Amino acid sequence: MFDTTHAHITTWVVAIILFFVAVGLHNAGKNKGMKIVHMILRLFYLLIILTGALLFWKHQGINPALYGIKGLVGIWVIGMFEMVLVRTKKGKSTNMFWILLVVSLLLVLYLGLRLPLGWRPFA
Ligand code: HEM
Repeated sequence: MFDTTHAHITTWVVAIILFFVAVGLHNAGKNKGMKIVHMILRLFYLLIILTGALLFWKHQGINPALYGIKGLVGIWVIGMFEMVLVRTKKGKSTNMFWILLVVSLLLVLYLGLRLPLGWRPFA
């Protein structure tokens, strides 16, 4: 949990899947199902932040600025998941937030993969 990124990766992969399941359920008109999946997704936000914070506390000394930015962009992604889902539920337009979600997700993946632990395709 402190030295490998496996737990952290598991939490955000599950979150991404739950996010798309929630959107799919909404599109299928299954609002009750969407509500339940959305609640489980919110639990996974906490697990993403917890596993990310554990890695952060132990390793940020390597490159505090980049680790800090990585954490903030991670929180930004979670914010965009919420904006898309809440606005979808309310029937408001979501185009802008989908774009920001894609941008923040690409950025956090790039930063995570650039940092020293785990996979390092850009190192
Ligand atoms: C949906 C949100 C997030 C995504 C998609 C994400 C993605 C990633 C990825 C791809 C890695 C690299 C894994 C590897 O190389 O094995 C990583 C590592 C990491 N993440 Fe996240 N993350 C998210 C949220 C967060 C948050 C909120 C924090 C801080 C509280 C955080 C802190 C970290 C830290 C400290 C690492 C280790 C960096 C290193 O490789 O040295 N992440 N994350």
